[in-house]
Amino acid sequence: MKLLVTGGAGFIGSNFIRYFLEKHKSCAVINLDKLTYAGNLDNLKEVQSDPRYRFIKGDIIDAPLVESIVREGIDLIVNFAAETHVDRAIGHAGDFIRTDVYGAFVLLESARSHGVKRFVQISTDEVYGSIEKGSFKETDTLMPRNPYAASKAGADRLAYSYWATYQLPVIVTRASNNFGPYQYPEKVIPLFVTNALRDIPLPLYGDGMNVRDWLFVMDHCSAIDLLIEKGRDGEIYNIGGGNEIPNVELTQFILDYLKKPRTLIKKVKDRQGHDRRYSLDCEKLKKLGWRPRADFTQALQETVDWYVRNEWWWDKLKSGEYWEYYRKQYVDREKD
Ligand code: NAD
Ligand code: TYD
Repeated sequence: MKLLVTGGAGFIGSNFIRYFLEKHKSCAVINLDKLTYAGNLDNLKEVQSDPRYRFIKGDIIDAPLVESIVREGIDLIVNFAAETHVDRAIGHAGDFIRTDVYGAFVLLESARSHGVKRFVQISTDEVYGSIEKGSFKETDTLMPRNPYAASKAGADRLAYSYWATYQLPVIVTRASNNFGPYQYPEKVIPLFVTNALRDIPLPLYGDGMNVRDWLFVMDHCSAIDLLIEKGRDGEIYNIGGGNEIPNVELTQFILDYLKKPRTLIKKVKDRQGHDRRYSLDCEKLKKLGWRPRADFTQALQETVDWYVRNEWWWDKLKSGEYWEYYRKQYVDREKD
């Protein structure tokens, strides 16, 4: 089987490539990634010399480039490529529309013209919006509430339309918040762990009572792998970890585990339009035989340990120009 993975140099994509090459000995993987600030070839050091793996630096909106790759004979496309950070989307939505929506369109068109056998669109639980009580099912209304979530919802429905209109074998996955190794330190867990290790304050938004459902990245990878094999064309699948926790408790856990004082928590101005709670009903996926295998506490401790051991990986990210941009953001938040 020959796969085109887009956005494979990012957090989930790189974990997925490692997982897939390890599990499927006779597969070949092409990784098409633009290497934005979030793309990092350090994430793939273990596989870079594997003859079954090939990296191509490029943009998914570049139709001739995508065409030239898919024409080689691709069986399966898994589209991870996206702008992914909500705070950035609030400031600069344009890149999100461009990559997340238009980029998905370019990939879908190419898949359609070359008869790709399966197209997995990696969507997100954020397309549903916020839910105070209960959990979202795949059939629930989409009510995205920030430009990132809205652009992902656009791509999610566009992918479905290629099934409904052209019978392109599309599967859409909607996962909850992932955590694990190689996550860019702008997302809350790696940000707070690496800040704590440097004794920098942890900027907790609003009252800290927003709830996220945490999914260990390897459980996300195993769900995608299962869906490649057993998912039904044209269907959507929720993928949740079943680990809901308010941000303040997550933050305290990280500080306590690292033996750092809770006084490092700095309550700052809330995110605009901050979704209160995400929660997924995953019965549809569980009926196919999937279960999240990670124990939340253990996986979180192992993740924190990974950042402790791998300072080489995040040190350069925390000192570069994007980090300067983020430090400015936090200073601005503190002022309010
Ligand atoms: P990430 O930001 O770590 O990585 C995104 C990758 O996409 C980077 O390698 C980047 O260089 C690449 N990319 C961006 N624009 C591109 C373009 N125009 N062409 C080619 N490559 C481009 O993101 P992630 O956290 O690994 O998320 C991967 C996917 O999973 C995204 O589609 C995201 O919406 C979805 N998702 C993420 C989470 C989460 O908690 N992180 C949860 C659910 C769904
Ligand atoms: P994040 O990792 O950005 O993921 P998402 O917005 O996709 O859920 O944020 C997770 C939660 O943590 C979210 O409720 C916002 C909150 N948060 C903070 O309190 N402080 C921060 O510095 C960041 C980045 C997030």
